[in-house]
Amino acid sequence: MIVLYFFLSSCYTKRDYLVGSLKNTNLFSVRNLTFSYTLGARKIIALKGISIEIPQQQLITLSGPSGSGKSTFLHLLGLIESVQEGSIYFLGEDMAGYSYQQQNRIRKEYIGFVFQRFHLIPVLTVEENVAYFLLRMGLSRKEVKKRVEHALRLVGLYEHRHKKPFTLSGGQRQRVALARAIAKRPKVILADEPTANLDQETGKQIMQILRKMVDLEGISIVISTHDPMVMGYADHQIHMTDGKLEDGDLSPSFAKESVPASNLEERSLNTCS
Ligand SMILES: Nc1ncnc2c1ncn2[C@@H]1O[C@H](COP(=O)(O)OP(=O)(O)OP(=O)(O)O)[C@@H](O)[C@H]1O
Ligand SMILES: [Mg+2]
Repeated sequence: MIVLYFFLSSCYTKRDYLVGSLKNTNLFSVRNLTFSYTLGARKIIALKGISIEIPQQQLITLSGPSGSGKSTFLHLLGLIESVQEGSIYFLGEDMAGYSYQQQNRIRKEYIGFVFQRFHLIPVLTVEENVAYFLLRMGLSRKEVKKRVEHALRLVGLYEHRHKKPFTLSGGQRQRVALARAIAKRPKVILADEPTANLDQETGKQIMQILRKMVDLEGISIVISTHDPMVMGYADHQIHMTDGKLEDGDLSPSFAKESVPASNLEERSLNTCS
């Protein structure tokens, strides 16, 4: 009985937060982020004290040699990996103050991912692939239909909505993956080398769509890339070497160090995710 009480109270009385949209809060504030992988007795330090301020509504490219830590950094920003040392503030809130469950919700609602491999579900059509995660987010069928149509039109794939992924080209599949991320209406899309498997022309088309999303939809995008063409679309280019970021215009000024102003509205959760 006591166990059941604690289980129910953790599900139904815990507070959660709805991320707000004040323009003046940084999307991410990262402080002294260090991360290592353990392989048997070996420890591989992938990030070595990263600090950066990532503003809202910007397209940011992250470049650097293979193994410099780009994917690891994106996984930490996307709350896929847990912070070991240092801090990540998302819209002014220190993610360390959030439970695993709450971080999952934030990731589901506010963060979109586009990977090098498209991770499409082969048995579903284009529109079903885009709709799938929206339905899992609990949106109504009407809302899902509206968002799917909007996202597929934005990436120029509406006419192909009834096709299965295996009948599409690589560029078209990458655009389905983009539509899936856009349809979520996230605050940020984290894209890990999204054009690496595409020819230059198709890569350019993908970048034009991403640029349009930042300018028209107000989404922020952080892209890891080796490609100078991709970097040409950026508002800010950041470079990484051996787990460290080079100093640039997004480096924080520690002289003015303070906890970023919170930008979150409180919301009661009625369900347990
Ligand atoms: N799952 C893992 N287990 C152990 N070590 C890992 C793992 N993932 C990455 N690493 C190591 O962490 C370091 C950073 O890797 P990461 O994948 O973040 O680099 P990257 O900049 O994305 O490289 P690339 O351009 O090749 O994608 C590398 O030394 C890598 O070998
Ligand atoms: Mg990588």
